[in-house]
Amino acid sequence: MSKMSLDRMLQSQGFGTRKWCAELVADGEVNINGKAVTDSRASVETEGLSFTVYGEEWRYREHLYIALNKPTNYECSRKPSHHPGVLTLMPEQFVRRDIQPVGRLDHDTTGLLLLSDDGPFIHRQSSPKHHVPKLYVATTHDPVTPQLVAQLLSGVKLHDEPAPLAAVTCRQLDERRIEIVLEQGKYHQVKRMLAAAENHCTALCRTQIGELKLADLGLAEGEWCYLEPAQLELLK
Ligand code: URA
Repeated sequence: MSKMSLDRMLQSQGFGTRKWCAELVADGEVNINGKAVTDSRASVETEGLSFTVYGEEWRYREHLYIALNKPTNYECSRKPSHHPGVLTLMPEQFVRRDIQPVGRLDHDTTGLLLLSDDGPFIHRQSSPKHHVPKLYVATTHDPVTPQLVAQLLSGVKLHDEPAPLAAVTCRQLDERRIEIVLEQGKYHQVKRMLAAAENHCTALCRTQIGELKLADLGLAEGEWCYLEPAQLELLK
């Protein structure tokens, strides 16, 4: 059980400053259980709380855990330079809550991207110590050969890495596609590993993180969803 005043609750959910939220309430724009509440200092129980703002339904969430099906030509950087940032695909409330991508995908990589405003969660998920396997489908310029798969599995040497980097698993899907699982998240790792094995990556999609599969989320490119506790368990 956790109670707080309605204006503070709205502020915590990214609806603006406390003053702004108090005005929203006073204007009758906030409904709880189907009724407008006009006292911004009213105490509300946040656990299981659903409310509407301007008629749109929201659920109180202490933290945000989001899965996005990232389209191509979006940057994960907070200060994107050549393409729009992935945060432009999020509601403004999430951006006010300082939601951030968990790790990065290249601007031309598509697929599963996690975002959160929970610092320790972001740290855990992106730390190399945690060995969260990530599965990618890479399309190659030249046909895939058994030698390519064997090289990726045994390890390839990248310029600025002291030791060769190897895929955890790797298999051919068809003439020009492989499925590759990595535990590290080095800069352009899949692309650089393919280049080191004398092929070239022409398209890359992340399809799974831990046991969480993009295909099970039913997201079209550019769509996002909340991750519920059972789905977060799949990331461990
Ligand atoms: N490896 C890459 O080369 N690019 C990505 O975006 C992710 C992994």
